[in-house]
Amino acid sequence: MKIYAIVLAAGKGTRMKSQRPKVVHDVLYKPMINHVVDELKLMGVDETIVVVGHEAQQVEAILDNVEFVYQKEQLGTGHAVLQAKDILKDKEGITLVLNGDAPLIRKETLQGLVEFHMNNHNQATVMSADCDVSNHYGRIIKEDGQVIGIVEYKDLQEYQMDVTEMNTGEYCFDNQKLFEALDEVTNENAQNEYYLTDVIGIMNNKQLKVDAYKIDDFNEVGGINDRIALAQATQILRDRINQEHLLNGVTIIDPHNTYIGRDVVIGEDTIIEPGCILKGKTVIGKDCHIGPYCELTNVTIKDNVEIKFSVISDSIIENGVDIGPYARLRTNCHILENVHMGNFVEMKKAIFGKNSKAAHLTYIGDAEVGSDVNIGCGTITVNYDGKNKSLTKIKDNAFIGCNSNLIAPVTIEENAFIAAGSTITKDVEKDAMGIARAKQVNKEGYSKVLKEKRLKEFEKRNK
Ligand code: UD1
Ligand code: CA
Repeated sequence: MKIYAIVLAAGKGTRMKSQRPKVVHDVLYKPMINHVVDELKLMGVDETIVVVGHEAQQVEAILDNVEFVYQKEQLGTGHAVLQAKDILKDKEGITLVLNGDAPLIRKETLQGLVEFHMNNHNQATVMSADCDVSNHYGRIIKEDGQVIGIVEYKDLQEYQMDVTEMNTGEYCFDNQKLFEALDEVTNENAQNEYYLTDVIGIMNNKQLKVDAYKIDDFNEVGGINDRIALAQATQILRDRINQEHLLNGVTIIDPHNTYIGRDVVIGEDTIIEPGCILKGKTVIGKDCHIGPYCELTNVTIKDNVEIKFSVISDSIIENGVDIGPYARLRTNCHILENVHMGNFVEMKKAIFGKNSKAAHLTYIGDAEVGSDVNIGCGTITVNYDGKNKSLTKIKDNAFIGCNSNLIAPVTIEENAFIAAGSTITKDVEKDAMGIARAKQVNKEGYSKVLKEKRLKEFEKRNK
């Protein structure tokens, strides 16, 4: 059985009060729409169609491996699904329809919906949950326990006001039956919109089998309509993810003050201190100690690594490295085994070899550093001449004295020694010492002369 999916993402999201379409807003550092589409991918659906409209290009820019259909005017959720008609209407299979503004949905729940739909031979299944009577969601209307339709909150009759079973906005349909029924949807309702929800009543009237798949966790499906709900969704997802890590053997000292993205992987016995934000495709190994206060984005960290108060992105860190406090690594750094990187060190596009050290106040950019290298405090790879970026190579066992400038392109060969305070513009050969600074001159007694001179000037001024 083929499974198709349609994700509705054409709306503006007026209640967000934003220049950006609702579905591109982040929940825990990932746009809402990506949460939904990623779960569909994990589920392995055969074809995903995203309905875009308002600021379509902003939505299209953050998604890949999906098809887009364009809804020119946002005339309602039913009208949105109709935009996929040309692509899908003749295909055999089932179609999931998901609201793009419900990012907390999990693939397991969607699988449950599909199984329920197939096992019961339904033509339409709406996912439902219990909500508070005051919530403005559509309601599932039943007669003798049978679903007969969905009524939007604004269209509820007095006698339907106490219904608490809400429409989550997630459905599973027989694909062909869905498009047949959609043709019959009108916009005669409180909002003059073509409601997708009407399809349930229409199919029921045609004696097709419709039902509701009720789930326990309302938090997974509440649509986000304003920034209060957006903030709440972030908290809910944070707690859910942290709980999973705790159960998997990760210590999180303060789960309320630790933000871990949905795609982050963390190994056993790793400790996460407060104030950490771990996001993107970050993978952390076993027995690591991360934080306090680290921001890691798309970082791969192997085992036994310690990082404190640092900001790291798009980099790989091998076993046994210790970093920080206050280090910054970005753009494809590769830090090899047992490196020690201390206070206020910045690296960019650098390979930093085994056992090498940069203990303090250093910038290493566009560089290849070998193993057992010592980078003295205040060293700078001068990689930029205002136009081009150039490479610095520092080979194994080299020693770079404090406060050196290495003007790239330049190579410091194996075992070479750079005298502190040097500005190195030429390659330094193996085993050589490079020194490039003015010779020191000591002027005997001159300190005393200077002091007396200043004292006289002072007395003259204050007469
Ligand atoms: C919808 C449901 C409601 C349900 C709720 C769950 C309808 C008519 N109502 O209401 O029963 O309880 O979701 O959260 O379906 N969209 C388009 N094109 C449009 C209109 C909307 O693509 O013309 C998209 C929006 O971008 C959004 C999704 O559809 O991602 C839902 O639209 P929204 O306006 O938020 O529907 P609700 O009023 O929340
Ligand atoms: Ca909504």
